[in-house]
Amino acid sequence: MANTATIEIDGQKHEFPLIEGTENEVGIDIKSLRAATGGCITLDPGYKNTGSCESGITFLDGEKGILRYRGYSIEELADKADFLEVAFLLIFGELPTKEQHDKFHADIKSKSIVDDDVRKIIDAFPKSAHPMGVLSSLTSALTAFNPSSVNVDSEEDMYNSVVKILGKFPVLVAWTMRKKQGLPLDYGSNSLGYVENVLKMMFKQPNEEYVQNKIIVDALDKLLILHADHEQNCSTSTVRIVGSSHAGLFASLSAGISALWGPLHGGANQAVLEMLEAIKEDGGDTKKYMAKAKDKNDPFRLMGFGHRVYKNFDPRAKIIKKAADEVLADLGVEDPILEIAKGLEQEALNDPYFVKRKLYPNVDFYSGIIYRAMGIPTDMFTVMFALGRLPGWIGQWREMRLRKEPIGRPRQLYIGEKHRMFKSVENR
Ligand code: CMC
Repeated sequence: MANTATIEIDGQKHEFPLIEGTENEVGIDIKSLRAATGGCITLDPGYKNTGSCESGITFLDGEKGILRYRGYSIEELADKADFLEVAFLLIFGELPTKEQHDKFHADIKSKSIVDDDVRKIIDAFPKSAHPMGVLSSLTSALTAFNPSSVNVDSEEDMYNSVVKILGKFPVLVAWTMRKKQGLPLDYGSNSLGYVENVLKMMFKQPNEEYVQNKIIVDALDKLLILHADHEQNCSTSTVRIVGSSHAGLFASLSAGISALWGPLHGGANQAVLEMLEAIKEDGGDTKKYMAKAKDKNDPFRLMGFGHRVYKNFDPRAKIIKKAADEVLADLGVEDPILEIAKGLEQEALNDPYFVKRKLYPNVDFYSGIIYRAMGIPTDMFTVMFALGRLPGWIGQWREMRLRKEPIGRPRQLYIGEKHRMFKSVENR
């Protein structure tokens, strides 16, 4: 392979080095472009062709449907690892030893208490507030209760802030849901596993013992692993770019939560369920909705289909589809929504519009069906995505700071008015 790329502008040739990643991906290093060309920039709305960083955390090949965290395939991790192992792997680079895992969990538990004044903030939100807005605000508010900034050059400091947020975040998630339901805000139990504790904190009724259901624990563990990282997506890029100004970890994560909220990103899992419900209410006519999705005059999109990077299949969707079948069968749930989902999937997979554009079901097409079977309200689905994505965001934030990346500051091509003279109000 050549090791430079040439750009010719007005007959003048400029050479730029090619950089190769460990999986043979090639990037043109254009760091010197403006200086070499007298101010020329690249224009790439949506960053479809732009690498914002070099990263050693997650590899994905959208054509082959490959997803790996730190080199380990998502299929193997979802099958054999637990969420905390995956979190440790993403953040620190290696799977933990038994001792490291136990210490990690113990440290997370020891930091899980949130300042009791956080309850006052939650109380100030109306019950109608969307949980993602509440979660983003509460995560940002953690900065106020934990004001010391992280010294990224101190491993100890970094480790402490990681266990702190991994401990407190599930409490915020559970309290966000319970506040909406008018249930008392409480802690789970430090004798439980991380995921078991999340479930207990979310679902324990004040007048009943909470009984764990292994099928639900395993399914949630798997869902969290599948969502744990996905390289430079919208929310992760947001976390990195906010963090690049040296804003604190909690503030950066709060921005990531807001980015995740949108229906084209993490909010798709809620949108999928609402869409399937609407189709059911409308008599279950999937063909009608397929036609709407293909109609360019109709803004409707088939939620849960398509992906910016996967142009073959989303490997997470395959695992989730299987998990949805198993969980519903194990729990004895017969959900007509699942039948509608399967019908839509079959039609889309055989429809020339979807085939031509390489639109396949993504991770969110089936995740909502599992969340629903677990008794999680629809507007909490994206919050569950955030809980899973947390280690990815932390790992990416840590990597960005350790690599001493410069502040993120894209350029633009100005297309507005040229210089013009100010007119006083009576002359306009
Ligand atoms: N339904 C109907 N048409 C679609 C869909 C869809 N879900 N997705 C893409 N298209 C069409 C689109 O109209 C365009 O058609 P044309 O070439 O004729 O103009 C073509 O496919 C390419 O679409 P695009 O919007 O240029 O692709 P993108 O890479 O910018 O968008 C996407 C990716 C995920 C935002 C988009 O596929 C979408 O809106 N999907 C529905 C929302 C969704 O499920 N999002 C969750 C993503 S996975 C979870 C996560 O990681 O956040």
